[in-house]
Amino acid sequence: MKRNFIINLVLLLTLSSASYALPISDKDNPHNMSNLAGHSGPKAATTLAGGTDRICVFCHTPHSAAAKSPLWNRKDSVTVFPLYGDADLAIKKDVGRTGYDASDQTKYPNGASRMCLSCHDGATSIGVLLTGAPIAMDGDFVTNDTITGIVDLSTSHPISFNYNADVVANVLQTYKPGSYQLPLGVIDVPLDGAGRMQCTTCHDPHEDTRGDVNYDFLPFWRHQGNATSYSDVCNDCHTASTVATPPPIHNIP
Ligand code: HEC
Ligand code: HEC
Ligand code: HEC
Ligand code: HEC
Repeated sequence: MKRNFIINLVLLLTLSSASYALPISDKDNPHNMSNLAGHSGPKAATTLAGGTDRICVFCHTPHSAAAKSPLWNRKDSVTVFPLYGDADLAIKKDVGRTGYDASDQTKYPNGASRMCLSCHDGATSIGVLLTGAPIAMDGDFVTNDTITGIVDLSTSHPISFNYNADVVANVLQTYKPGSYQLPLGVIDVPLDGAGRMQCTTCHDPHEDTRGDVNYDFLPFWRHQGNATSYSDVCNDCHTASTVATPPPIHNIP
């Protein structure tokens, strides 16, 4: 009996070290910003009303949400974010067909990417919600409760553009024959409801995969369908041979 227990314990430890993705309910997931979180990043100074940890409230509310789904509880960031606009980008060259004008702040970034940027802009207070009193944050974050080290979108992979068959066939394959091969078929990583690539195409905001070798230790990495590693996510849109040396995806100033 005791021996079985020890074997089970060893098995459990082996299994958990092989797979170490943290759901948002885990105390060490940085997107768990409740007072009960165990990490050293931003979190609430006190337990919130009702005595519960209220993990979801920083991003979602059941009532009086923003017009954007899914029941979004944050104000839009007012920061300006010019997107990546390399002159050679096919999606940029045919603006008429793709609409991708990297500097047009009225259109870009959009969708779920703007939701991420309502915290990851280095300016908006994390505890300020759309609905509900502002949440006081803990420790160093009491007065300076914004995220430092923001993602510079002008030097990051393009986002918020429409990735549909028309764009792939008529824009990408005309301008970039053979270089960045992009498939016409169904891809595994998610586009948003309007068919656009967003932060959420590469990152899953709920589950932190950083401790997990299966996801190459990447933060909040997308693992859906066949996309179970860094390259699987990229190769969904770019064929393996063409992204032999992946570039840095974001430059943090
Ligand atoms: C740090 C911000 C953040 C927190 C905290 C958060 N979510 Fe989300 N959630 C998001 C974003 C962003 C999306 C939109 C994803 C998309 O568009 O692909 C989302 C989408 C969802 C959806 C729609 C289905 C899906 O997965 O796209 C559900 C359901 C959901 N969240 C539930 C929860 C619950 C329950 C909690 C608390 C335990 C929670 N979320 C905490 C950011 C968050
Ligand atoms: C409610 C605020 C909030 C929203 C909304 C939010 N995040 Fe975060 N995110 C954080 C905080 C706080 C951290 C931890 C940063 C720290 O410790 O300095 C974090 C960490 C991360 C990290 C790990 C990097 C690191 O330095 O720890 C990634 C990747 C990330 N977020 C992606 C996203 C994406 C993608 C979205 C949208 C789908 C999103 N976040 C939405 C607050 C937010
Ligand atoms: C093409 C895939 C891709 C997209 C789209 C993407 N990311 Fe990332 N992100 C990565 C990768 C890969 C890393 C790991 C570090 C690196 O390579 O820069 C990362 C790292 C991060 C980090 C940790 C800091 C760092 O750079 O190490 C944050 C925060 C983050 N991403 C937020 C975002 C936000 C917010 C968006 C949307 C505005 C976004 N990401 C869109 C792939 C992506
Ligand atoms: C949803 C599809 C999709 C995913 C997933 C994706 N990309 Fe891309 N990528 C594109 C499109 C579309 C372009 C724009 C090509 C153009 O306009 O010429 C692009 C452009 C690029 C470029 C060229 C930039 C330039 O200046 O020419 C590189 C390099 C790249 N992606 C690498 C990656 C890497 C690495 C990953 C995984 C972390 C990734 N991509 C994930 C669709 C995707």
